[in-house]
Amino acid sequence: MSEIHDRSDFFVIKALEDGVNVMGLTRGSNTKFHHQEKLDRGEVMIAQFTEHTSAVKVRGKALIQTSHGEMQTE
Ligand code: TRP
Repeated sequence: MSEIHDRSDFFVIKALEDGVNVMGLTRGSNTKFHHQEKLDRGEVMIAQFTEHTSAVKVRGKALIQTSHGEMQTE
């Protein structure tokens, strides 16, 4: 892939049901959940990967848009 993706990229998570969980995981050798956000249906979170956050886990039905494409959790 020739596109350049960096931490300034934003990703979008739109909840398609109540109680969607967005969990941020820490960067580095010790991977832990450091943040949990609850979204209700229709709510949108716009976020970036940062110095502190290198991975995100989404639980619940949601639409996710990133520079890599769009996907829906099941
Ligand atoms: N304070 C966190 C950080 O700067 C906030 C954060 C950024 C975050 N991106 C996230 C939390 C994605 C959950 C998911 O890293």
